[in-house]
Amino acid sequence: MAYVKLGKVNEIPEGSGKMYEIDDRWIGVFNVNGELNAIDDICSHQEAFLHEGELDNYEIECNAHGAKFDIRTGKVCNGPAVTPIQSYSVRIVKGSFEVNI
Ligand code: FES
Repeated sequence: MAYVKLGKVNEIPEGSGKMYEIDDRWIGVFNVNGELNAIDDICSHQEAFLHEGELDNYEIECNAHGAKFDIRTGKVCNGPAVTPIQSYSVRIVKGSFEVNI
């Protein structure tokens, strides 16, 4: 794994998420109170994009069927999904952010 620059911190407004594509992966990056967290953007239930869902503090709710995941760990907080999703470390370097993928 290595840190890869994905974008600028100011591209993601607080309380929202944005999807970035790299190496055939879709990574959702979410801003909660200025802290960035990154997870695979594909729901483990039926493959909807998670960044399009509702972000409530550290939980993202999939807008397809309501599964919830913790954006810090990828852990399932609420079904119907049962499989956790991959989370990634994020670091900020001079106004940009890098994700360890
Ligand atoms: S696709 Fe996300 S809950 Fe069904």
